[in-house]
Amino acid sequence: MNKPVNVAVTGAAGNIAYSAVFRIASGQMLGKEQPINLKLIDIEPAMQALKGVQYELEDCAFPLLNSISITSDLNEGFGDCDYALLIGAKPRSKGMERKDLLKDNGKIFQPQGKAINDNARSTVKVLVVGNPANTNALITMHNAPDIDTKQFTSMMRLDHDRSKAQIALKYGTPIKKVKKIIVWGNHSNTQVPDLTKAEVNGEEIKELMNTNWYKDKFVPRIQNRGAEIIESRGLSSAASAANAAISHMRDWTSGNSDWLSIGQISNNNPFGISEDIIFSFPSRCSNGIFEMVTDMEISKSIQSLVEKTEKELIEERDSVLELLK
Ligand code: NAD
Ligand code: LMR
Repeated sequence: MNKPVNVAVTGAAGNIAYSAVFRIASGQMLGKEQPINLKLIDIEPAMQALKGVQYELEDCAFPLLNSISITSDLNEGFGDCDYALLIGAKPRSKGMERKDLLKDNGKIFQPQGKAINDNARSTVKVLVVGNPANTNALITMHNAPDIDTKQFTSMMRLDHDRSKAQIALKYGTPIKKVKKIIVWGNHSNTQVPDLTKAEVNGEEIKELMNTNWYKDKFVPRIQNRGAEIIESRGLSSAASAANAAISHMRDWTSGNSDWLSIGQISNNNPFGISEDIIFSFPSRCSNGIFEMVTDMEISKSIQSLVEKTEKELIEERDSVLELLK
């Protein structure tokens, strides 16, 4: 057995966390040899509900769960943390875009960035889930100047997995036969799911990008899947979001032979995307790090879509400059 690691989760009394924390405690994120101290963070008014989550976690008697703490104090919650899942933020409701949340949610991430900077381990891996996830990740990163920018990511894994699942359905093939999916840009309705390098059963499927199915069905469906779920459920995705967060952290830590989509700092990218935004690039994970896939170009047929999602991220960033100091 390894030494326990500290996993901080914000929004721990909320819907996504209610799906995520039990799976983290059971070893689905960091493996069956990794004991965990769970550090659950929420705001003061949610402490009673969070106590209930703590009781339920205790009642599961998870062998890997070494300790559970609950707090609304960010310095305590992020103390010595090795992993930080920043989920706590308002979800949107019907008719809203995720960027409409920036005014309320952006300010949550400034103090969290500072607390991570001052209290987390220098090797901490940070995943921002709370929307708008990319710009919130940028705010967190800017407020944690002592931590390597590569340790801050935003969650694009749900978009990636949604794309994978739709391709598997289209071909009537098992998910594991679908590889090298890419989603570029923002976790918003401008994101660009890209099949340029995608493979099904080892064969490239890029010709699909010339079809009406790709332009009129696949791309809008992935871009608007979150809204489709809100429309149907009356609430935003929770179990699938928790699953994506766990998969993101698991693969970042333990590797994955397939390509993944990871929201990351855009500095020094070879694709001509502006610097200082958190942008989703195709990535490979191994040995506890992720690296951008750089031996490819953005296909001309989607260049204008990629520019649109880039422009949106620049606008989001420029609307919260006061939080980046
Ligand atoms: P929820 O309303 O059920 O829970 C949010 C929790 O966050 C609540 O317990 C609330 O008290 C807490 N919270 C609010 N402010 C906080 C703060 N400053 N510090 C700590 N906790 C705080 O919402 P949910 O369904 O769990 O969704 C959470 C966020 O995740 C939303 O912004 C949602 O839009 C986003 N989301 C992102 C993705 C993605 O793919 N990136 C997917 C699904 C949902
Ligand atoms: C999603 O993609 O499901 C989440 O970002 C929730 C939302 O607001 O769509």
